[in-house]
Amino acid sequence: MLLFDWPVAAFTCGKPPLANQTIASVTPTSGGFSQVKAAAIDLSPVDKGVQLFENLGDIIKLAAVENGVGDFFKELPYNQGSVIAKGMSGDVVLVTCSDKPSEKRVLKRMPLKCRRSERAAKMLFMYELDTFYRTDHRGLAKCILAARCPGYLAIVMKFYPLGDLERSLSILPSESRPWVAARVSEAVDYLHTKRIVHGDIKLQNILLDTGFTPVLSDFGLSRYLTEDVLTLSANKFGGTREYWAPEIRNRDATLQVDPFKVDTYALGVVILSLLSLLKPKMDLDYLETAKTTEDVSSDHRPILEAALEPDFKNRCTSTEVLRFYKDIVDKPCSESDCTANPQD
Ligand SMILES: Nc1ncnc2c1ncn2[C@@H]1O[C@H](COP(=O)(O)OP(=O)(O)O)[C@@H](O)[C@H]1O
Ligand SMILES: [Mg+2]
Repeated sequence: MLLFDWPVAAFTCGKPPLANQTIASVTPTSGGFSQVKAAAIDLSPVDKGVQLFENLGDIIKLAAVENGVGDFFKELPYNQGSVIAKGMSGDVVLVTCSDKPSEKRVLKRMPLKCRRSERAAKMLFMYELDTFYRTDHRGLAKCILAARCPGYLAIVMKFYPLGDLERSLSILPSESRPWVAARVSEAVDYLHTKRIVHGDIKLQNILLDTGFTPVLSDFGLSRYLTEDVLTLSANKFGGTREYWAPEIRNRDATLQVDPFKVDTYALGVVILSLLSLLKPKMDLDYLETAKTTEDVSSDHRPILEAALEPDFKNRCTSTEVLRFYKDIVDKPCSESDCTANPQD
């Protein structure tokens, strides 16, 4: 995993979605808090005291709590459980609701002092919240609560017991795979219609809800781009090498690329992996694999080839990928025969 190198570009090439020291507020839904709304909240370190930002109108909770981990759990209605993953941005901790111990949540704890700079840690957090704020879709993860703590920033989300798609790929029934591909394509296309580039589409960033319903998450590298931003330099992308489109592999600062097509390529790698069970690898020729592997049925080959097209100018868009899956995307997986009709 690599650290992104393009928030500066995103800051300078469009209206910054949030000011440098700004994070967000959260509006509630029946299940708790679901959307984050921009609000000017200071992200500078907290020395003392407990600072809980609460907008009583729509109950925003951005807590600044003292003395590290323990106090998050003192101040907020959660009990600490085990660490279930260690990601690029920190630990992912299982927590339970204090009043309802059977209700599990996940706390994403993003330390301010780590191998990255404090600024980089804050950027991951701010951009993640910015995408939560801008989006509301069945295929995207939602934020329950965001908190500022002295040593770390925290995001609380729903817990998905099946974890991420990489972990659960082998238990995913084969007849569900095209439907999962359809739902992931829909989520990516939704982001793109909102002019948000995900920036790190991969199996590990797709969580599985009940019935193997996929939910795209981890928006730390996601960027909202204003209408006027059509390209970015190829060296401005982070994400995960195995999913990198050919045009960004050389990190050529002079090459302008379509950031949405970079996402489409990564989506193609995810779908290829879903259908073939092949683990994405640097030395694997994805296009050749899509054309030749027997694990991919012939009806899926054209759309995979279009998504994995090396020349981004000729590569299809996420909308075209979704169009391929339009007949199955709205069916519950159990009712769907989970096959797409390539003629449509
Ligand atoms: N809500 C969740 N439920 C279950 N597992 C999760 C959840 N959120 C994250 N994870 C696990 O933690 C990993 C890292 O989380 P992620 O949000 O991708 O952070 P990072 O930015 O560190 O990659 C994921 O790949 C997944 O395995
Ligand atoms: Mg991740």
